Amino acid sequence: MKKTTVQEIKEKIHYEISRTAPPEGFPKFHDIPRGRYISEEFYNLEQEFVFANSWVIAGREDDVLEPGDFITFKKLGEPMLIIRGKDGKVRCFYNTCQHRGAPVVRDEKGSSKRLRCQYHSWSYDITNGALVAVPDEHDFVDLDRTERCLPQVSCETFAGFIFINKNPKAEPLNESLGKAREMLDPLDCESLKEVYRESMIIPCNWKVTAEAFLEVYHFKHIHSNKEGWATLDSKRAAMGLYRGGHSRMITGYSDQHVQKSNMEAWDDWKPLDNGDFKTVQSTNQDFLNMLDCTSTAVSYFPNTIIPLGAFGFPILLFWPIDIRTTLLEWFYYAPQDWEGDELPLHWKIRSKQFNQIMDEDKYNMAPMQESLESKAFTGVPINYQERRIWHLHEEIDRMIGVERIQEELRMDQLMEPYLENSDV
Ligand code: FES
Ligand SMILES: [Fe+2]
Repeated sequence: MKKTTVQEIKEKIHYEISRTAPPEGFPKFHDIPRGRYISEEFYNLEQEFVFANSWVIAGREDDVLEPGDFITFKKLGEPMLIIRGKDGKVRCFYNTCQHRGAPVVRDEKGSSKRLRCQYHSWSYDITNGALVAVPDEHDFVDLDRTERCLPQVSCETFAGFIFINKNPKAEPLNESLGKAREMLDPLDCESLKEVYRESMIIPCNWKVTAEAFLEVYHFKHIHSNKEGWATLDSKRAAMGLYRGGHSRMITGYSDQHVQKSNMEAWDDWKPLDNGDFKTVQSTNQDFLNMLDCTSTAVSYFPNTIIPLGAFGFPILLFWPIDIRTTLLEWFYYAPQDWEGDELPLHWKIRSKQFNQIMDEDKYNMAPMQESLESKAFTGVPINYQERRIWHLHEEIDRMIGVERIQEELRMDQLMEPYLENSDV
């Protein structure tokens, strides 16, 4: 991210504070149809055209450090395995033996020089998935090994994360993330280590879960502390919409938190005293200062939210299990300032605080799904501050293809004029 952009974000927040209505000419949204959360047909379209065509985070490069190291992955429906090849490149294959379908690897994590199915020992090359050994091959009539390679899934890495895409002809990850890369590019994400991970299963549609993290004006209502104030002031929020359904949101601190942080004012962005925490390496001090003195989050379409921080950050992943069930996972990454398995006190405190916020967010989700199923609810009215939610839905429709969607479930395409310029 260019230094001027950080300055521009600050100016945008000043503008947001000053306005008394949405910007001149901002469109009126229709309600988001509730069928988008409860229609099986629409859910199936999302699975077929959104999740089977999107780049999603499936792991960390650290998980597969050496050639032959692998992890398994099942969150996109079919079983898969991710393995580092002899050439050092990380690849993803379907974990389905092409003989009779036994899993090629059974462990969640391991290392192997060859991918040998346990059932009858068909073996595959770790680098290209080629079928390299078939016991009793003479008893197969005309077995063509080249037709029985392990099928591959598109796989690339960015910022130390392993992204996969079920579409073998997926556009390159770099292009798909586009300008939204600028939110991780200034940080040395590759060197970050996992601090801890958590997950919960929530009985609601995956979008109900994701949408809780795409606006901030609920913050003071459900995330205030015991003294009755919240760390963020939602009037100080600048949002940015990127092409491809990605977006970002930078929110200034509340006056109470400004005071507690020894800042002069909400826009006094400078390095704060973070005690025992180690700061993430970056070549852009202005960007780091922004992370220190605001809440800054980036969302990567369709199912990733990253609330960034100067001393590390969690990534939140939303996985649809079925139309009414979502697996919400979060993994916290930071520069390593601990040894062994026992986390130091400052991380124990931080993880407890963050998990508490996640619990507060979770609290609404199952009841909201029940309401979406209720005839008492006609649709979801969305305001200017909730436009990242609209942006998510617009992209879903673009990926599915508007003509495939029942007319009453479609979204108007309105946000194009409000996208960030792509001149990174
Ligand atoms: S099922 Fe894998 S070798 Fe037979
Ligand atoms: Fe929240």
